[in-house]
Formats: sequence, C-alpha cells, structure tokens
Amino acid sequence: MPGSATSAGGRPPTKIIAIDGPSGVGKTTTSRLVARALGLPHIDTGAMYRALALAATREGIDTHDEVTLEELASRVRIDFIPGETPRVLLDGEDVTALIRTPEMSMAASNVSAVPAVRRVLVRLQQELGRRSGGVLEGRDIGTKVFPETPYKFFLTARPDIRARRRYDELLAKGEEVRYQTILDATIARDAQDSNRSDSPLRYDDTYTVVDTSDLTIGEVVRRIVGALS
Ligand code: DC
Repeated sequence: MPGSATSAGGRPPTKIIAIDGPSGVGKTTTSRLVARALGLPHIDTGAMYRALALAATREGIDTHDEVTLEELASRVRIDFIPGETPRVLLDGEDVTALIRTPEMSMAASNVSAVPAVRRVLVRLQQELGRRSGGVLEGRDIGTKVFPETPYKFFLTARPDIRARRRYDELLAKGEEVRYQTILDATIARDAQDSNRSDSPLRYDDTYTVVDTSDLTIGEVVRRIVGALS
C-alpha cells in the first residue's frame, strides 16, 4: 500500500486501535465492526471490569473497599476470549451474559476507580493487545493502556441519546426499565468515570473525536476505517 507504515519493508507493527468514550456511545458495536473490517480481534476492556465487579458482588465485597478489592483482583482469574461473540471467563466460568445488567454497570464503575484493580486489568489488556493487536474499546486505552498507538478515536454523544440507546437495548432484552432511571444512571456513571483520580475518562489532541449523536453505526465505522487507510 503506497505511503503506508509497511512500505519501508518488514512486518508492520502490531496494530492497536484505541476506541474510548463514555457508556452508551455505541463503542461496542462500532468496535466489533471496525475489528471485523480490519481483521483484528475486538477486545472489550469494560467486560473485564464488569467481571471483577461480579466477583466482588458474589463475595459480598463492598465495591468501594479498596483493600479487599486489591486482594480480589490479584486472586481471581479473568480471561477474555475475542471472537465473533467475545466471551469473558471468571475463574473459568463463562459470565458473559451475567455482567450485562444495570447493577453490574454501576458496580463496574465503582471497582474501576480502584488503582490496584486498574493495574491488574491494564496489564491483562496490554498482554492481549501485544499478542495479536486488536481494536480495544474502553475509557483509557489511548491514554494509559496503549498511549503510543497512533490510532486513537474518542466517541461522544449527547447523554439523552446515549440513555435512549441503552433504554432501547434493555427493552429489547425484555427488561422492565424507566427511561429516566437510565438517564440518571448514565449521568451518574459519566461523572464518576470522568472524575476519578486514576485514569479518568479523558481525551487529548492525539485523538480523533467522533460525535455519534446524529450518525448511524455504519457512518461511524466508515469514518474510523476511512481515517485509518
Ligand atoms: O464499557 P463498559 O460500560 O462495559 O464499562 C464498565 C465500567 O468499567 C465503566 O463504568 C468504566 C469502567 N472502565 C474503565 O474504567 N476503563 C476501561 N478501559 C473500560 C471500562
């Protein structure tokens, strides 16, 4: 490919695409489609925080209790298996479906504020990414996990749009939810993820920002893939 990073000869470096942004912005679907278009694994780092939140909840651990969470993070084993339907294992048990509840969303946000938890999970994410490259979605991929990658995208959307998307998703799964409850939870989680002291949700001028409020998923994917070619 003329002018690409591979033209100097030799193998291209392992490609890491960072897709960061708040919840409900379409990161997961976008990342899956970008990964498919590029032939790279899709690595959903939020699922790892959710798995740890589930472990804490099952053991009756307060998701703000830093000391006990640090011990938990170093004791449990979390595996992430990329694929068309990525799976998350907690000590070998497939917990993929169990971590997608509103309760686990808030619990994951709580545990993700604990520096010791982040240390363990960031290491796991770096190992996975270095092994095969990938499209990594999260909050701090371009700032902390792979700050050296030149391929960084930050997805945004207005909170009401994000809450509406989440609400529709939950309704489609047959869950009984109120839109206002989802909107309040979206705003609360944004505030918590953006204001924590360790790796807050931020972007800088090394990112390409994509406001997805008025775009279809297809348009978002085309922008990202287009920016990479
Ligand atoms: O993307 P998600 O909603 O599944 O993420 C769940 C929580 O995990 C979210 O509130 C913030 C946290 N998280 C994080 O702190 N860093 C990441 N790289 C991914 C998720």
